[in-house]
Amino acid sequence: MDMLATRTTWLAIGILFIIVVGTKILRWKSSVHPLSTRPPPPIVNVLGLLPSLFIKGFGVTINDLYTKFGSVFTVSLFGPKITLLVGPEVSTHFFQGLESDIDVRKFMEVTIPIFGQEVFYGVDTATCSEQLNFIVDALKPSKLRSLVDPMSQEVEAYFAKWGQDGIVDLKHELEQVLMFISSRCLLGYEVRDMMLEEVYSLFHDLANGLNFLSFLFPYTTTPRNRRRDKAHIRLKEIFTATIRSRRSSGRVEDDALQRLMNSKYKDGRFTTEAEISGMIMGLVVAGHISSTSTSTWTGACMLSNTKFLIAAMEEQKHIISKYKNQIGYEALSEMDTLHRCIKEAIRMHTSAPVLVRKAHTKFRVHTKEGEEYDIPGGHNILVPTALNNKLAHIYSDPHLYDPDRFGPGREEDKVGGKYSFTTFGGGRHVCPGMALAYLQIKVIWSHLLRNFELKLISSFPKADGSKMNQEPKGKVMISYKRHQLL
Ligand code: HEM
Repeated sequence: MDMLATRTTWLAIGILFIIVVGTKILRWKSSVHPLSTRPPPPIVNVLGLLPSLFIKGFGVTINDLYTKFGSVFTVSLFGPKITLLVGPEVSTHFFQGLESDIDVRKFMEVTIPIFGQEVFYGVDTATCSEQLNFIVDALKPSKLRSLVDPMSQEVEAYFAKWGQDGIVDLKHELEQVLMFISSRCLLGYEVRDMMLEEVYSLFHDLANGLNFLSFLFPYTTTPRNRRRDKAHIRLKEIFTATIRSRRSSGRVEDDALQRLMNSKYKDGRFTTEAEISGMIMGLVVAGHISSTSTSTWTGACMLSNTKFLIAAMEEQKHIISKYKNQIGYEALSEMDTLHRCIKEAIRMHTSAPVLVRKAHTKFRVHTKEGEEYDIPGGHNILVPTALNNKLAHIYSDPHLYDPDRFGPGREEDKVGGKYSFTTFGGGRHVCPGMALAYLQIKVIWSHLLRNFELKLISSFPKADGSKMNQEPKGKVMISYKRHQLL
């Protein structure tokens, strides 16, 4: 009996073993095997692309490759590989994949000397992600309402300095007024009132640390990098002094600096002075350049398209009469025409023309052309936002400035599917400053449309290819004459 029981037990264990192993093999066959059978994307050698890159430029070359190979292709750089994913159909893993599978860290070394070792890509992934969450929280749309009054005061005070009529460089004017807004809403009134000129010039030196050369060699001693390092040290001193003074006096303000000071890690510790300083530098650098560029493009586009300029002005008239000229958060939220004019300007002239990641593990994409590719781990992955924003199967007449494409009944970006409009990124690293960017640009343009008659007098600007953010090249001259929109 005992022997029978032992035999039965062994038989049961044997059957169980066969089932477990068999199931594993079947699962492996059905999931792993097919993965290994998909081909990698078509590959082109960078040598063959050099003539086109020199003659036609990066944008046109990528567009030509897209026409030839479809939405996924790889460029080989004598060893390292860059795989391009064009269009929303193949972008999901790029935006949503786990950091352990695909991440941006490798390309962000350039930011370490700019913002400091204590933040973002100078610290481990978990701490970095907590810090990014502090920023998301500090810039939540619900927290922006209280910033409208200070923003409007800065804008009114700035343009009050303009005469009855005149000619100005729009880009310069918008850069200045945005610095006043940033200092008031992000850095705090201490900086705004006492040392804005110095801080403005330091931020200029800091932001100049973001250039093509320092992407490759962030620590090389060049004059630019030396100025960047000096600016970092001085800004850190300024923010540290402000933080200490607020903490010792118990004074609490309503700005991003304060919200970052109040942020706590999951283990209960508060952010340090160096971390707060680094994060605030990150906010200003990330937000200021892109907002200046976007607000200038918005102006250039509206002033060159009478139909939409008139539509935006009509909307202002309606809002003025509805809100008795009190332009607060609700009034700004109702400016849909102006919102679409900004969105369309930024679709055509995105300040982040490419987004990059490093794939650590293999992933599969299904293209709209019906192909399936396995992209090997180790590839660098690039999403060309500027090209995505002009895809003819998503945007009708993509080279036309047509804000109505985002309006009711069309909504081309939504119809195109998730990740059709990635000017602000998407998924895990979507821009936390998007709502703030729209808000400040609307406050400025609402004020300009209500108070000035404007004309673009220089030719429509070209994008500055030497700058990473594709800002308008050179001066953007406009004439203004005061008027009162009624
Ligand atoms: C028109 C203005 C802006 C544009 C076009 C823009 C664009 C972008 C894009 C495309 C990304 C994603 C990058 C990637 O996926 O690799 C991003 C991330 C980011 N942006 Fe913006 N941005 C703008 C304004 C702002 C403002 C005003 C702030 C803050 C004050 C800001 C703070 C950030 C931060 C902190 C990140 C990093 C998020 C993360 O890695 O999780 N941006 N932005």
